[in-house]
Amino acid sequence: MIYLDDIDSYTGRNCALFSNFMHLKTIIIFFLLLVFASVWLVFFLGWIDGSLQDGDRFQCHWFCPEVLGGGIIVKNKQQLIEWCIEQCSNGPNRSLPVILSWTNFFGDPFMNKSTLNGSLSNCPYQCIYTDNRRFELYASAIVFHIPDLNPLSLPKRRQDVLNVFFIEESPAWRWKWWIFSYKFLPKSYFNLTMTYRKDSDIFAPYGAFYPIENQIEKDDIWSQSDVHSAMLKKSSPILFLVSNCNTLSKRELYVQELAKYINITQFGKCANEFCDANCEDEQIKKHYFYLAFENSVCNDYITEKFWRLKKLIVPIVLDRKLVENTIPADVFIAASDFKDPSKLADYLQYLIKNPNEYAKYFNWTKKFQKSYKEPPRENRLCKLCEMAHRNVHKEIPNIEKWWVHGSDCYDDYTEYLLEES
Ligand SMILES: *[C@@H]1O[C@H](CO)[C@@H](O)[C@H](O)[C@H]1NC(C)=O
Ligand SMILES: *[C@@H]1O[C@H](CO)[C@@H](O)[C@H](O)[C@H]1NC(C)=O
Ligand SMILES: *[C@@H]1O[C@H](CO)[C@@H](O)[C@H](O)[C@H]1NC(C)=O
Ligand SMILES: *[C@@H]1O[C@H](CO)[C@@H](O)[C@H](O)[C@H]1NC(C)=O
Ligand SMILES: *[C@@H]1O[C@H](CO)[C@@H](O)[C@H](O)[C@H]1NC(C)=O
Ligand SMILES: *[C@@H]1O[C@H](CO)[C@@H](O)[C@H](O)[C@H]1NC(C)=O
Repeated sequence: MIYLDDIDSYTGRNCALFSNFMHLKTIIIFFLLLVFASVWLVFFLGWIDGSLQDGDRFQCHWFCPEVLGGGIIVKNKQQLIEWCIEQCSNGPNRSLPVILSWTNFFGDPFMNKSTLNGSLSNCPYQCIYTDNRRFELYASAIVFHIPDLNPLSLPKRRQDVLNVFFIEESPAWRWKWWIFSYKFLPKSYFNLTMTYRKDSDIFAPYGAFYPIENQIEKDDIWSQSDVHSAMLKKSSPILFLVSNCNTLSKRELYVQELAKYINITQFGKCANEFCDANCEDEQIKKHYFYLAFENSVCNDYITEKFWRLKKLIVPIVLDRKLVENTIPADVFIAASDFKDPSKLADYLQYLIKNPNEYAKYFNWTKKFQKSYKEPPRENRLCKLCEMAHRNVHKEIPNIEKWWVHGSDCYDDYTEYLLEES
């Protein structure tokens, strides 16, 4: 594997500018900036239209640490690869696909060393990974992290390139600038999707269960006595950690209703009660259940909230249908299974009083590893690298249709749920 790092990379600078702009509040300044931004954007669009040029300087990081220094002035990809191979005793294959990230990842370089140096070294396929846009002409795949993407600055579509639509949020995510929207993305521009949705080309969930296999170390397996003593520490019913007080799913309405029947401990911006990581762990130990209500209700959209279950707490989700595609049915409770919040509260009280019944929700600890780790981002890149090696051909005729209309998001879901009852 190769890591390429452009010394005079310019993409990071742009992003810092963007976020500074967003902090300025007065309307006048906003409009002045808008004018400035448009002029700048036009300039920028022309400027990025470059390719790898004579005299461009690159650094080449392999995962052999001795190559970290130096850098090379290269004319083309072949020369760069040859230089890299010279530098590294067990260098990879010369016919390596280049995987380019066109965008940052929430402001940070996506293809950075610490991101890549993980299980990618276990990936059976090798690729060159780079954030350098000037590698566009040599890229086999280009990754676009949608929240970092300026929809007006897309590289020209090329036949042999796989353009990857990558996002971890739900379709409810919107650009901060109202002038942008999914409509701004050309319809048939992308070839692969990399999202939390099960039907993505590259499935990129927030978490996963890893089966216990023979070679797994004891430390990675919950002993039944650990599970038992964790249960004994529990004393309060429901924990709710939340920072977004007005959500599309209107989860707050359901919480209000549920709180009439059972105590809910709230932390976060809406409760004006802050809780850092240590406090969070303490609270998770104390509570039986955790409200894993997502801010938007979309099929397969299950975030790190849900995966707190790995810390031995039982998650309550809004709708069973959203989860059942990807998660075993016996590890969570779904509000949609109950006629109304009072019935849900009754059931939770019943579980609190019947530890044997409650314990069944931890059955998963017998089958799956303890691990709280997210599925490594590297796995997704490994899959993409594999697809690039296999010369996969695919087209997504209409990305807006696939993503926005195909995600089965329910606005105001909670109102619907409460009306049903
Ligand atoms: C280089 O990669 C190709 C395709 O991935 C493979 O068939 C070939 O065996 C590799 N060569 C070496 C020397 O590793
Ligand atoms: C690399 O990426 C990670 C995760 O996105 C980030 O936390 C880290 O600061 C980045 N490192 C550099 C050197 O940009
Ligand atoms: C990659 O990670 C290994 C340990 O996992 C570490 O020894 C090595 O120094 C790291 N390499 C780089 C380039 O960060
Ligand atoms: C809720 O919590 C309060 C204060 O901790 C306690 O006094 C009350 O008994 C609890 N109610 C229920 C139904 O558990
Ligand atoms: C958990 O396992 C027990 C037997 O070990 C079984 O009786 C029970 O049905 C399981 N619980 C759930 C919720 O599937
Ligand atoms: C990617 O999609 C475009 C049209 O959407 C198509 O023209 C191109 O051939 C596709 N490329 C690959 C490598 O599949």
